[in-house]
Amino acid sequence: MENKVIDESRQGEALLLNVDKNIDKPAGRQVFIESYGCAMNFSDSEIVASILIEKGYSTTSDYKSADLILVNTCAIRENAEQRVRNRLKEFNVVKRHNPKLMVGVMGCMAERLKTQFLEQEKIVDIVVGPDAYRELPNLIETVEGGQKAVNVLLSREETYADISPVRLDSNGVTAFISIMRGCDNMCSFCVVPFTRGRERSRDPESIVAEAKLLFEQGYREVTLLGQNVDSYKAPPKYSPKGRTLNASDSPHSGELEGASISFSKLLEMVAQVSPDLRIRFSTSHPKDMTDDVLHIMAKYDNICKYIHLPIQSGNSRVLEMMNRGYKREWYLERIAAIRRIIPECGISTDIMTGFCSETEEEHRDTLSLMEEVKYDFAYMFAYSERPKTQAERKLEDDVPEEVKQRRLAEIVALQQKHSAERTKLGVGKVHRVLVERVSKKSDQQLSGRNSQNSVVVFDKHNFKPGDYVNVLAESCTVATLIGKAV
Ligand code: SAH
Ligand code: SF4
Ligand code: F3S
Repeated sequence: MENKVIDESRQGEALLLNVDKNIDKPAGRQVFIESYGCAMNFSDSEIVASILIEKGYSTTSDYKSADLILVNTCAIRENAEQRVRNRLKEFNVVKRHNPKLMVGVMGCMAERLKTQFLEQEKIVDIVVGPDAYRELPNLIETVEGGQKAVNVLLSREETYADISPVRLDSNGVTAFISIMRGCDNMCSFCVVPFTRGRERSRDPESIVAEAKLLFEQGYREVTLLGQNVDSYKAPPKYSPKGRTLNASDSPHSGELEGASISFSKLLEMVAQVSPDLRIRFSTSHPKDMTDDVLHIMAKYDNICKYIHLPIQSGNSRVLEMMNRGYKREWYLERIAAIRRIIPECGISTDIMTGFCSETEEEHRDTLSLMEEVKYDFAYMFAYSERPKTQAERKLEDDVPEEVKQRRLAEIVALQQKHSAERTKLGVGKVHRVLVERVSKKSDQQLSGRNSQNSVVVFDKHNFKPGDYVNVLAESCTVATLIGKAV
């Protein structure tokens, strides 16, 4: 069981979207898309929706009336996969009454299980991996022809850069932009390098163009997504208009500049789209996060002062076994750099407890690191062994489940305390809030976030989503500031 404090909106196990868009072809076929896992899956579902809309589909939020159900799956932990399997059982009830209904699985679990999925789950007609979404229309045709269809080829180039994603389940204010795909880091516990393939970065011009378009459409915040944004590196050759570069192209023509564009440079390019467009990004990697990135963040008001910097463990031996590429001291130095360069920065993390051979003392190192950093927020997990990973092949998953759960509970309790303390520091201060939506608790209140990513709730008056409002925080709960517009 996952603990309630874990905010499921970020990664693993979370049900992220449910789609209903007014597309102009209501007579066409309808697709229901459901996403589990991280923001990248959410973002991919938007790419998939674009591909299908192009082929005459419209999206629906009612799976019972859909012609096609697509489940974008996550494989990060065992229970993430179990959720998908349970959900497929529910879809199966509908399929029994409507044999024409097609069911496809996409994403990381599809990539991991490949054709085994068809054998294990009879309901599944289509298995499609994260780099093969362009093939979906063909796979659907195959199924209509009476066969099952699988494409799980990974690619070294695919970034879907030319596909303009439709925004699903959108508040019209915040949007994700994928800036890279895959991961080359090979943390020993992690399935992502196997399910998402090699790391590749998308060309910066298409990223900036997407940010501009979103801004013109009224969006006011973009989150740049990658498994390790700090290793973003623009492809050395890219051609924005689909043209291949040749020898006569000047190295100064702009198209070749990509070779030197790092994440800090990209961040600056996106920040310059408009001072009224806020920028966030995720995930930073402690081994690669440079001071350059921090200086760019400090330089631009519209880059949110918030960093998600996963630690995983506070003990250097465990970190080494995890193949994370940094030690405790290195990580703490990165935290010190953040505090030095961006004193007001919000910091959150991911913590994984009960990794192979982790001792009680090593667990206490994680707690003491938390005490040192005092995170604003954390996503906390018990280690779950994943097939094919280095840890599965070479290490023993030998921390008993009850020990993992007890350690997790201690970590969660400490984080609760820190979150409450950190949120409280915001009371009595004025926060610049980007309004995202009407508050879930009262339609007389609005909800948004400040630069540090804390949720702020306040009375509506005449404000609306997309407005920037200065809010004086008067009280708080563990994770939410409550105040009034000033
Ligand atoms: N790319 C990001 C994390 C992606 S996965 C990074 O490197 O930080 C999100 C989080 O899931 C990880 O940070 C880790 O805390 C957790 N996680 C990954 N594999 C896991 C596993 N096998 N068991 C439990 N938690 C895991
Ligand atoms: Fe997984 Fe590590 Fe890559 Fe993150 S950096 S996705 S934890 S391999
Ligand atoms: Fe899950 Fe794949 Fe994301 S395993 S966390 S959906 S990259």
